[in-house]
Amino acid sequence: MTIRWLLAAVHLLALGVGLGAVWARGRALQAPLDVPALRRVFYADTWWGIAAVLWIGTGLVRAFGGYEKGAFYYLHNHLFWAKMGLLAAILLLELGPMIALIRWRVAVARGAASRFARISFVQAVLVVLMVLAATAIARGYGVPTR
Ligand code: HEM
Repeated sequence: MTIRWLLAAVHLLALGVGLGAVWARGRALQAPLDVPALRRVFYADTWWGIAAVLWIGTGLVRAFGGYEKGAFYYLHNHLFWAKMGLLAAILLLELGPMIALIRWRVAVARGAASRFARISFVQAVLVVLMVLAATAIARGYGVPTR
């Protein structure tokens, strides 16, 4: 009885965590994506993942572990299959964001953004030096004197 109650409680808590997390992830992705914004995206994404594990873990045990109405009841219930269809849609939609976010996490962990930022500033300095060289060339500087 206690396990049944705990499974139901965790299943419901996952709803609070998951809905908040996926909404927060969407909002964070709408902001300009600098490194702090990306960290907010990753934070929300982590909780979204934790919620999914809790939901599916407790859900499967509840449905097929004999804690609720039994597997037969759920497997012959149209709304259970509708619910599983909706979950499948969520998981399919998640493939794109999941793959991209794993890549972004690796890139940010490697410090790619700040390295690219430094490279960009160095490139800006090199462009200015090129202008100095070009305007000097145009005025006859740089020709070897005999
Ligand atoms: C493999 C995935 C899942 C399975 C097998 C599963 C299974 C179950 C089962 C057996 C129940 C108890 C129903 C009853 O009282 O007869 C339940 C309830 C519920 N599930 Fe799921 N579930 C899953 C995923 C989810 C997800 C992703 C959500 C959130 C959108 C969710 C939300 C709920 C809610 C709100 C209830 C009713 C409250 C409760 O009794 O805990 N479930 N689920």
